[in-house]
Amino acid sequence: MIILAIESSCDDTSAAVIQDGAVLSNVTANQTVHEAYGGVVPEVASRAHQENIVPVVQQALSVAGVQSRDLSAIAFTRGPGLIGSLIVGVSFAKGLALRLGIPMIEVDHMQAHVLAHFAEDPKPEFPFLCLTVSGGHTQIVKVLDPGNMEILGTTLDDAAGEAFDKTGKLLGLPYPAGPHIDRLAKSGTARFPFPKPKIDGLNFSFSGLKTAIRYFLERNRKADPTFIEDNLEDICRSVQDRIISILMDKLEQAASLTRIKEIAIAGGVSANSGLRSALQELGAELGWKTYIPDFQYCTDNAGMIGVTAYFKLLKGDFVGHDVSPNARLKF
Ligand code: KG4
Ligand code: ZN
Repeated sequence: MIILAIESSCDDTSAAVIQDGAVLSNVTANQTVHEAYGGVVPEVASRAHQENIVPVVQQALSVAGVQSRDLSAIAFTRGPGLIGSLIVGVSFAKGLALRLGIPMIEVDHMQAHVLAHFAEDPKPEFPFLCLTVSGGHTQIVKVLDPGNMEILGTTLDDAAGEAFDKTGKLLGLPYPAGPHIDRLAKSGTARFPFPKPKIDGLNFSFSGLKTAIRYFLERNRKADPTFIEDNLEDICRSVQDRIISILMDKLEQAASLTRIKEIAIAGGVSANSGLRSALQELGAELGWKTYIPDFQYCTDNAGMIGVTAYFKLLKGDFVGHDVSPNARLKF
């Protein structure tokens, strides 16, 4: 069974070919055009998807050595995401499915981040917990089986990736700032104490941290105009360590409450080197089996869409041509 998967929920246009659950190709075109605006501009993203989608799909087929007539089904991200971006992927999938006379499979982007772990070995065993941290979401998910996931905790305001990106904006770093903060933090020391929010249960909050960082920078720049430049690495390290400690605390609580020891991280922020080592360290201490995705499966990619679609294909879970994208899709 060969699936062509399309991902176009935000600012990455991606296509992948999956054969019997194994990823044969995973091609992503990143849209650098948004850097100039300090964030994703929805209309610009939608237009860039329109330009990228045909070459990206062609490359995914060619890397996999597959012709379009070999395809068994087409999978696409139905949501959540930017509506103008989703429309491009969904319309493309419909057009190709119609021409080839093959079925379509809709995929929830957040479930796909979680199931990205099935693109690689070793694969988590059910039930497992997944901390999904991206630009738009922060979730602790209990995964009972591929089609049965429960959100145990989520953010009450900003997402973890947003905390990185908004901090980066205050520091004058390019968008998305997560990878830049990660790189700078490596040679920094966490000597600036940023507050830890007191939120009950397994939910998160990052907006207080964002405000604290803004005031901290304003205060220090008044006294010393080159404060940011002179302390950039240490500021990055302090912020990054705080974001990681907020995430790891709740993950530890979730593991203890559910008594689950299969623990995964997913989403764009799971590419963060500090978070990756924090998970390994805490996992070794608490006897967890930890799962950290390969970089290509952290940020948005169609490989994860295809792997998720394969689980649905096995159940015959297809959709008709009346399907429409849903920017606020929830599972
Ligand atoms: O999953 P993703 O590609 O897109 C969404 O679905 O949102 O996540 C993008 C987010 C951005 O906020 C970006 O800054 C963050 O992931 N990110 C990182 C790193 N790489 C990407 N954050 C921290 N450290 C990184 N190395
Ligand atoms: Zn994502």
